[in-house]
Amino acid sequence: KRPAGAPDKALAKPVTKVGVVGAGLMASQFALLFVRRLKVPVVITDLDQARVDKGVDYIRGEIDTLEKKGKINGDESNRLKALVTGTTDKADFADADWIIEAVFEELGVKQDVFAEIEKHVSDTAVLATNTSSLSVEQIGAKLAHPERLVGFHFFNPVAVMPLVEVVRAPSTDDATLSTAMVTAAKLYKNAVITTDTPGFVVNRILAKLLGEAMHAVDTGTPFEVVDKSIAPFGLPMTPFELLELVGLKVGAHVLDTHHAAFPDRFFESKNLHDLAEHGQIFERDAKGKVKGFDKKAVSIVKG
Ligand code: 3HC
Repeated sequence: KRPAGAPDKALAKPVTKVGVVGAGLMASQFALLFVRRLKVPVVITDLDQARVDKGVDYIRGEIDTLEKKGKINGDESNRLKALVTGTTDKADFADADWIIEAVFEELGVKQDVFAEIEKHVSDTAVLATNTSSLSVEQIGAKLAHPERLVGFHFFNPVAVMPLVEVVRAPSTDDATLSTAMVTAAKLYKNAVITTDTPGFVVNRILAKLLGEAMHAVDTGTPFEVVDKSIAPFGLPMTPFELLELVGLKVGAHVLDTHHAAFPDRFFESKNLHDLAEHGQIFERDAKGKVKGFDKKAVSIVKG
């Protein structure tokens, strides 16, 4: 059955090469998924060679892990690793027909990235943004062909979380939307089509939870009281674990975006920005297991 609002699958364009802009953790995680599931060349780019190399090394390392876990064999592992390349030259995107970005969550940065990409790709290549809460329409404001831009929002950890939000901006055309839906299915993800509103569906709801958790701390409730209180409700992670998983800077940005759009409904948190600067809420052992709340983080919120 066709998902709600989805156009005919027959309109979908083939994806034969993927370009990934940004080689950070989120981009590297979904670049891995594209190569593993679509088995097409995936080229990743970032501002400098060191960042590109880090992203490519991460992806190749994860492919090795899949082999060690017995999920793919040695031949497949070598084939997939050979399909992943890095570049700092966007001209290498010339024959890519699906370009997706996960660069810094700032409107101007994303607008400029796409305006630049558009100079290097064909007029029909699909452009996708993994923005977590910005307007897809506004991200495409500098494009000559905004009809081929769509939101394609993954969740962390990408390998495990089953959902992709496919964000239809008013300008997104049916062929682009259809390509996004078919691509999501090929990535073995459940896709939902959302409207182009701040936070789409999932982050709007998560921003409530995380914002309220931060507000409780901002107004004097200790971290552990918040986490212990919510623990019996069956969430896979406590609010502060989730904030660390998505990244404190990303979390702070998501809260700011929601507060700016709906100031009467969402909090902003200076403490969260300070925690993001510090870098952590929990103290962890060498394997990443939580040992307790980080002392500096506790002192930051105590003021
Ligand atoms: N990266 C990659 N893989 C991971 C991972 C990570 N950070 N964490 C766990 N995994 C994998 C493990 O390798 C394992 O894979 P395997 O079965 O192939 O060995 C599998 O997940 C299960 O691992 P665990 O047994 O350790 O898993 P848990 O039962 O502890 O679950 C979890 C881990 C899936 C992360 C779970 O805690 C969870 O669902 N947490 C909530 C995550 C969530 O809500 N994400 C959405 C965040 S919002 C967002 O991303 C949007 C953005 O815009 C802000």
